[in-house]
Amino acid sequence: MRKFESVDDQMLIGGARAVDLAEEYGTPVYVTDEDAVRTNYRAVYGAFSRRMPTRINYACKANSNLAILRVLEQEGSCIDAVSIGEVEACMRAGFSSERILYTGVNVSNHELSALVNRNITINIDSLSELERLADITSGASVSFRMNPEVGAGHHEKVVTGARSTKFGVPKGRIIDAYSRAIELGFRPVGLHAHIGAGVQVAEPFANVTDVLVSVAQELESKLGLQLEFIDIGGGIGIPYRPEESPMDLDVLAEAVTSRIKNGTSVQQVIVEPGRYIIADTTVLLTTVVDLKETPDKMFAGVDAGFNTLVRPAFYGSYHHVAVANKFGRPGEMVYDVAGPICESGDHIARERLLPRLEEGDLLAVYDAGAYGFSMSSQYNMRPKCREVLVRQGRTNLIREKESIDDLLSHDRIPARLMI
Ligand code: LLP
Repeated sequence: MRKFESVDDQMLIGGARAVDLAEEYGTPVYVTDEDAVRTNYRAVYGAFSRRMPTRINYACKANSNLAILRVLEQEGSCIDAVSIGEVEACMRAGFSSERILYTGVNVSNHELSALVNRNITINIDSLSELERLADITSGASVSFRMNPEVGAGHHEKVVTGARSTKFGVPKGRIIDAYSRAIELGFRPVGLHAHIGAGVQVAEPFANVTDVLVSVAQELESKLGLQLEFIDIGGGIGIPYRPEESPMDLDVLAEAVTSRIKNGTSVQQVIVEPGRYIIADTTVLLTTVVDLKETPDKMFAGVDAGFNTLVRPAFYGSYHHVAVANKFGRPGEMVYDVAGPICESGDHIARERLLPRLEEGDLLAVYDAGAYGFSMSSQYNMRPKCREVLVRQGRTNLIREKESIDDLLSHDRIPARLMI
């Protein structure tokens, strides 16, 4: 968990006071510290690239704000994209097509054509997708996503590498897939697997690398195929709770790269972190609008609900909460922090010991940069909130808040219902 500075009990984010940010931009608001994004990118790139040639494909599903993408473009990152929308966002943020690898699942022919038109390399998820791609194009460089039968993750919903999931070409069919790709005139250049998200230890990454290496060896011995890259996917976890410790990137990078270097002649490793790069760079600021004492508990009612940050409601995820205008003060009372959405599952945090709260206090929800804004919705007809970028005390609005008009602008009332 990132440590934040404070002055006179006021939390600072990237050198700016949280209360000033809330006053200028309103709440709820996502605030990202630009320097932290750059530091995280350099940490993960550095750990791997010190050991072998490395490409970081930032998993932009975690956060696809154009300004964040610009920062990572400047850092030299490449992209893991999962939809044509993400591809388009990255291209508008300045990523050239060769810096984007598309890894979709259940991809339509329409989407395949759009990718081919934009010259995006496709990481193929199924034999069906391979055949359908061959009807659209030939000669292209491709890679395959394999189901490695190695899965891990912070919640069963995000374990992708287990055999029972919908993802990837089954391990037992992967050699056939490459041989069919060659037959169809494609140029297979890589092999990919993704175990899942929020993995806090290196071991599953080592295990999946063993599987990838053995398949790469088989491709070489059986098909004479020399791959250009092995892509170990993303999923590097972060410590959301104060007592957790960060992943040791050196241990992780050593486990992965030593296996690839010793077992294959593959020249490049690709890593696809989303969360590791962006999660802890961002806090969600939300105002205490209501306080309610019930027979069972104290509720701190805030203006961010699961429409703003869905992870606690959807996965039961822990996000640390601090009182930004009483920062560092000792906890006095236990609160449930709940939002304005009309469902009992709408909570941001449960049973947190916080300084005594008053209406108007400002809460900072930590580690909200990954799958925070990008999974937000307009449920209950609540417009999506603002996003702000901070750099050494200077702030920029990087996403305007939506209006009610924005929400209604796509609805159509048939004329016959207007009579
Ligand atoms: N590569 C592939 C193929 C993926 O499917 C994912 C995440 C990543 C990379 C990046 O994973 P990361 O490094 O960010 O853990 N909404 C969930 C996480 C879902 C992740 C889906 N795929 C959450 O809020 O925890």
